[in-house]
Amino acid sequence: MFRKKEINDEQTLDLSRIPNHVAIIMDGNGRWAQKRHLPRIAGHKRGMETVKTITKAASQLGVKVLTLYAFSTENWKRPEQEVNYLMSLPGKFFSNFVPELVANNVSVNVMGELDQLPEETQKVVLKAIDDTADCDGMILNFALNYGSRREIILATKQIANEVQSGNLATDDIDSAVFSNALMTSSLGEDADPDLLIRTSGEQRISNFLLWQIAYSELYFTDELWPDFKASSLKRAILTFQHRDRRFGGIKQNK
Ligand code: FPP
Repeated sequence: MFRKKEINDEQTLDLSRIPNHVAIIMDGNGRWAQKRHLPRIAGHKRGMETVKTITKAASQLGVKVLTLYAFSTENWKRPEQEVNYLMSLPGKFFSNFVPELVANNVSVNVMGELDQLPEETQKVVLKAIDDTADCDGMILNFALNYGSRREIILATKQIANEVQSGNLATDDIDSAVFSNALMTSSLGEDADPDLLIRTSGEQRISNFLLWQIAYSELYFTDELWPDFKASSLKRAILTFQHRDRRFGGIKQNK
């Protein structure tokens, strides 16, 4: 009989099988605030504190890349006041958290169309990348003004241009060429997430890393992002460790 493997908090993580790349759709800030009769931006503020907690926890567990969906290409549709607040968050975050990032040997990376962000946001983000450039531990990779369909269109245009200019033959377009043209290419062999987490009970991908999650394990939790804790991350990783990843093949030793 098929039985679902039980996960409980007493189980310990196998530190030799920590996912290299964890990506998170941080959802539920608005609902967290609404439940407390607070404005939505109070949820984003609290969500930013969760980013700090989870960054430290992931780095201490040995995660190599932590990708966080901080602002999507669709988030511009939100009320102006909320968009402005979201644009101010990187400044608030980096203004006091960079020393802790450095202490944890974490470097900052950003993917998305940065040139469309307010100048001040671009400035603080580029400064954080610069300030942490010597860190060679975990990469904290923010998706900012990121949308996966847009990323795929940009990659396609880039490849088409290379073909048109005679630098690439159509027959040579393969997965590696395509991956190299995506915004995750700088992450090298860790470009594809091993584990994708979405908080708040929604079970969809919302235009996030569509190419890169082809073989990712998906983990959905009802917890709202501001309530997500280091123990929640461990639970997600424990669940990941109980999954059989076959990448389209068959299980070995069976
Ligand atoms: C989704 O929740 C969350 C966002 C669109 C923003 C996420 C941003 C943070 C968690 C802070 C980022 C921090 C830095 C440093 C950039 P929602 O507002 O859609 O929640 P709801 O579905 O409950 O309304």
